[in-house]
Amino acid sequence: MKSKIVLVTGGAGYIGSHMVRALSGAGYRVVVFDNLSTGHRQLVPRGVPFHKGDIRNPKALAAVFAAYKIDAVVHFAGLIAVGESVVQPLSYYDNNVAGSLRLLEAGVAAKVKCFVFSSTAAVYGPSRTPRFSENAVLAPGNPYGASKLMLERIIADTALSTGLRFMLLRYFNASGASADGSTGEWHEPETHLIPNILRAVRNDTPIKVFGDDYPTKDGTCIRDYIHVEDLCAGHLAALKALEAGSSSGVFNLGTGRGHSVLDVIRAVEAVTGKKVTVSVKPRRPGDAACLVADPTRARKVLGWKACRGLTEIVRSAWAWELS
Ligand code: UFG
Repeated sequence: MKSKIVLVTGGAGYIGSHMVRALSGAGYRVVVFDNLSTGHRQLVPRGVPFHKGDIRNPKALAAVFAAYKIDAVVHFAGLIAVGESVVQPLSYYDNNVAGSLRLLEAGVAAKVKCFVFSSTAAVYGPSRTPRFSENAVLAPGNPYGASKLMLERIIADTALSTGLRFMLLRYFNASGASADGSTGEWHEPETHLIPNILRAVRNDTPIKVFGDDYPTKDGTCIRDYIHVEDLCAGHLAALKALEAGSSSGVFNLGTGRGHSVLDVIRAVEAVTGKKVTVSVKPRRPGDAACLVADPTRARKVLGWKACRGLTEIVRSAWAWELS
């Protein structure tokens, strides 16, 4: 049987580059589309077709869809920093909403059947319950989350009128690096907690902790850190379900376990054997106190479950940082 062709937008980025490897490993032919604004050409494996282009550019998109008979799109391209989105909301709506509209238009015109979308736990509003199911109240606290929620609705509406089938995957905190050391987290500037702590350790500088007065066990924010390779396994499970005829759906991809910023610092100390110096700063705008997944639906419907824990995440991220 001929291999299916999957277009990965943002395939030169952190999660996208891991997904390219997961898809290739599962026997798909992969095409990468990325504007390299935050991604890195070196993270795309040799032999994988790479198209430099921006999802806001209909001509660039049309060229890719004309060059390959694309069966499915896995859409990662977009801006991802919660704090930055508060300062530059228009960039977030332009890239994440307007750009994704252009991608959907091109995909629908090319009769793409399956669309897997990189959504986020940032679509959820504050909650009294410790874990978020997919039915939790949707009330993003920042433009990043709002842009992703808008897209969820746009994709669902598009599907109703076109027959496109989709999976909306709400990620919790993607972290860690590939087991083979070939790709990992590489953002400039880096805003994410784990690489920032690791760099602080390497440079012997303090890690800034944004807020220690949240209503959590130790006052610092709690997140559900999910290994990026587990996350990609979740995408594969979602894509395969669509291909097998499953209906469209929305799924949390998380572990179901929460760790505070101080827990993560302790995990880094255990893995690296070095003491981390903490410098407490004011809260970062847009941050929620606690975001932890209830991943039950993904387990029941997709048969997927995250298997790696915080230590493995930190270990792989540390190996990548030192490489
Ligand atoms: N933090 C620090 N110091 C740092 C960096 C982060 O204290 O140097 C804190 C943040 O304030 C937050 C926590 O560590 O409380 C995690 O922050 P990250 O920036 O690593 O991740 P976010 O939770 O802000 O966002 C990530 C992704 C989003 C996704 C979200 C879902 O970047 O794309 O997880 O939870 F939507």
